[in-house]
Amino acid sequence: MTTEPIPIMLDVDTGVDDACALLLAALHPALDLRAVSCVGGNAPVDDVVRNTLRVLETAGRSDIPVARGAERPLLETPVDARHVHGDDGMGDLGWPAAAATVDPRHAVELLRDVCREAAAEGRPVTLVPLAPLTNIALLLRTYPDVAQGISEIIFMGGAANVGNATASAEFNVFHDPEAAAITLDAAADLGIPVTMYGLDVFYQPVVPAELADELVAVGGRGPAELAGSLIRFQNARFDRPASTIGDAGAVCVVIDRDGVRTEPLPLRVELAGTWSRGRTIVDRRDWSGDMAHDPHGEAPVRVDVALEVDGPRYTRLWADTILGRAGQR
Ligand code: BDR
Ligand code: CA
Repeated sequence: MTTEPIPIMLDVDTGVDDACALLLAALHPALDLRAVSCVGGNAPVDDVVRNTLRVLETAGRSDIPVARGAERPLLETPVDARHVHGDDGMGDLGWPAAAATVDPRHAVELLRDVCREAAAEGRPVTLVPLAPLTNIALLLRTYPDVAQGISEIIFMGGAANVGNATASAEFNVFHDPEAAAITLDAAADLGIPVTMYGLDVFYQPVVPAELADELVAVGGRGPAELAGSLIRFQNARFDRPASTIGDAGAVCVVIDRDGVRTEPLPLRVELAGTWSRGRTIVDRRDWSGDMAHDPHGEAPVRVDVALEVDGPRYTRLWADTILGRAGQR
């Protein structure tokens, strides 16, 4: 019996680790990557588009439509993360621009069209946002009918414990907290299941320097050389012997769900707060329902929160795919 590949769409702010995720999604035979939407985040959106086209061309997947989306968060002032990802947003490798061009549609329209086609086919798509959730909030509020074409959302963002952009908040949620709150609220309203792949698991699937060297040694300006060069860039930037595959972990969840342990937990996004704006407040209490002593009560939205990951298992899945050992397309 052959299993049909899982249709997926990625929303990215490419981004070193978004690039790692794109390579996995474009090359793994169990996935059918239908579209990629871009949003300002790690770098301005035009850089994100350029980087994304470069990655897909390197993977031999220029057939996948890439659309430009929101330039800025709904309310927040944009702040990039070029101090992490390089001046060009993708490791300053100096590789030439791709020949492929961006889809003429706005990202929200591309996602809408893919969802509607998927609904018509009766094969809903897994939506994997790996960036600030601006495009996704706009999509779900503008075209709620797309819910029929989305089987689930697995997003990288948030944390049950610590933050990274601030002590409280993770970058993707901190960058556009309103968009994150709207996305979770809309998904709950529309009955779309959500998994949060946050910082509690994000840093654990790592690529050691030796594996990065092995990837680079493949050469030929192909996916392995790109992936290895990106990991080397991160290792050098942070002076460490290994770096995470980051966003690519959320794509691993689509392929191999047993690699993470999740719990369905009530979740709120902090939209005010002096030091906590953008925090995802994950309620892990065994709460009695005593409203007199907790007037906030329990969040109405429940999300499957990834709390543990088998890091080596996801690193292997990622590297094997990039090296063509998971069955090249
Ligand atoms: C997230 O922020 C970005 O810098 C990464 O690409 C990832 O999506 C981690 O907090
Ligand atoms: Ca990202």
